Amino acid sequence: MTPAAALDGMLDRTIVAGYSRFGYDIRRRGWPAGDPRPNALAGATVLVTGANSGIGKATAAGAAALGAAVLMVVRSPRRGESARRDLLAETPGAELVVDSCDVSDLVEVRSFATNLVVRQPRIDAVIHNAGVMPEHRAETDQGHELALATHVLGPLLLTELLLPALAAAPDPRVVLVSSGGMYTQALPTADVEYRGGDYRGAVAYARSKRIQVALAPILASRWAENGVTVAAMHPGWADTAGLAQSLPGFRRLTRPLLRTAEQAADTAVWLVATAARLPSGRFWHDRAARPTHYLPTTRYTDGELERVWRYCADAAGLEP
Ligand SMILES: NC(=O)c1ccc[n+]([C@@H]2O[C@H](COP(=O)([O-])OP(=O)(O)OC[C@H]3O[C@@H](n4cnc5c(N)ncnc54)[C@H](OP(=O)(O)O)[C@@H]3O)[C@@H](O)[C@H]2O)c1
Repeated sequence: MTPAAALDGMLDRTIVAGYSRFGYDIRRRGWPAGDPRPNALAGATVLVTGANSGIGKATAAGAAALGAAVLMVVRSPRRGESARRDLLAETPGAELVVDSCDVSDLVEVRSFATNLVVRQPRIDAVIHNAGVMPEHRAETDQGHELALATHVLGPLLLTELLLPALAAAPDPRVVLVSSGGMYTQALPTADVEYRGGDYRGAVAYARSKRIQVALAPILASRWAENGVTVAAMHPGWADTAGLAQSLPGFRRLTRPLLRTAEQAADTAVWLVATAARLPSGRFWHDRAARPTHYLPTTRYTDGELERVWRYCADAAGLEP
């Protein structure tokens, strides 16, 4: 192992150093210059969910700066338009389209995606960034726990329905924005919808983020025939409206250490823009594939993973 790789791995394990802006600053020194190359996404269409705020907005900006046409998928057209104006001021002439869809609502996702593939027959990348940490247990109209629906079920169905458009791209990529918080949680094999026990939003959030990472290899196999590369990633800790609202105490304590949204978005943008061939189904942070477990308590068997996958695929309404 090179000294740089050893330092990088150590940063990951210390968490505070790795997830903070210091981790980003140290690691970026080892990244090759010119990757992604300027205009790497010229001619490409990149869809970003939750693109009106925080990391999603910075991801949309990063993709647009590399020449992509960006579909900004938001649940509030007003907030979407306001973000679009900001991004146009940053990158005049950028091709930015605001589209409305609540990704936790499977009926809305189905109708949105069915229309989108008609008007947008080629989509090069989908970045599932929309995220939520519910204060109380809430269910969508289809009866699914909100964090699960937002982070797992909606993204599964949306990607599946967009496969014809993804397959029309030369090197399609799908990114699931997870969280380092997932390291703390095991797969909720017996209670995917978090019906039992005291509901804690941070736990629901981290469990659903664990599911994203656990399913990535299965999705990589499922979508391989469409040429899709799947990547889960985590952005580190970033000072966003979402963090301020969900974890105000944590933000107060860690504020000087937090990344900017742009720093947190870097890996998601890199994953869709780098010319490098990436292995599909891995978990990434700061442009490197990372372990998916640090605690022995989070390990699961193939059977447990299969059970969670079956549950999510059925709940999202995927064809077997
Ligand atoms: N900030 C961090 O330190 C951190 C750390 C680890 C992981 N992450 C992940 O990074 C992603 C972005 O987080 P952020 O910190 O940038 O938070 P944020 O500022 O709250 O942004 C979240 C975005 O998701 C949108 N959204 C939420 N539910 C949605 C739904 N059902 N349909 C469509 N859009 C929806 C929000 O829209 P509205 O504006 O309409 O609410 C907002 O645009 C999330 O997946 C989060 O879990 C963040």
